[in-house]
Amino acid sequence: PAPLYVDCDTGIDDALALGWLAASPEVEVVGVGTVSGNVSAAQGARNTIDVLALAGRSWPVAVGAAEPSEGGFTRSGFDGGATHVHGPSGLGGFSAPLAAASPLDVDAAELLISLAREHGGALRILAVGPLTNLAEALRREPALPSLIAEVTIMGGAALVPGNISPVTEANIGNDPEAAQAVLSAPWPVTLVPLDVTLAHPLDEAGRHRLLDSGRPLATALGEMLDFYFDFNSTFYGERRSALHDPLAAAIATGTVRPSVAPRVHVEVDTTDGPGRGQTICDLRGRFLGHPDQPGAHVRVVLELGSDFAPVLLDRLLEV
Ligand code: BDR
Ligand code: CA
Repeated sequence: PAPLYVDCDTGIDDALALGWLAASPEVEVVGVGTVSGNVSAAQGARNTIDVLALAGRSWPVAVGAAEPSEGGFTRSGFDGGATHVHGPSGLGGFSAPLAAASPLDVDAAELLISLAREHGGALRILAVGPLTNLAEALRREPALPSLIAEVTIMGGAALVPGNISPVTEANIGNDPEAAQAVLSAPWPVTLVPLDVTLAHPLDEAGRHRLLDSGRPLATALGEMLDFYFDFNSTFYGERRSALHDPLAAAIATGTVRPSVAPRVHVEVDTTDGPGRGQTICDLRGRFLGHPDQPGAHVRVVLELGSDFAPVLLDRLLEV
């Protein structure tokens, strides 16, 4: 299995991604870092450890950045949390018996750098929260890209509206400077934006499959999703939810293959105007018949060839 470092802000869909990884023989998770996003980095680590305990896993967890790289959340105009989406603790109405494990003494950026050195070019990265820790690791170790096999990121909105502003997705918008540093670094990146994650929702029937499974992690995920579905029904009028982070995890494990994913230049808007945090993807070549841009290293996933929700459920029911 390929060694994988995961960076997350464990809320509800991050928990689904961790569940996916626990059931994935294609990768061995060698470390998890947390970042402030849905909840604080410290709370995210707590949630991660509890979710991993439900999955019977004890992967090393390191707390990462408490604040975005520059200017704080307020510069982006966001409140620095998404408890209205993920619940007060980040895991909806679910309350786990606290697992005994504690986070490591090193921070997430340090963990990532030491794992990259240890695995000499083979380490993959999956990032499903704001990109603050990855940017910090690049700052501390500029040679990091040469030590990494590939980076998969849930974030951005290429051709669809954003989810925290008309044009901006949360993971990118919560730290646009970090996102720009990570997307412009010379490593192969696969970006999994709202364009594709919103197209693959989980519905009530799927949630009930988890809830009624009798398995500890799946049942807990089914409970967590109740809160997420409530949020979605208030905002979008339907009790179902997008599968943002687990879809990125499934692409990182190589299990789910995108059918449309041009390799193009992506620029993040880091100005203070209404476009702050927008991922400007240069997709002009699509209309000219040459979707890949010479020299570009960001693959933007726009479509999958198949339905993701049933694949996710099958794996989660194995944990
Ligand atoms: C992303 O933002 C977070 O709320 C989710 O966990 C996901 O990573 C979706 O925009
Ligand atoms: Ca997330």
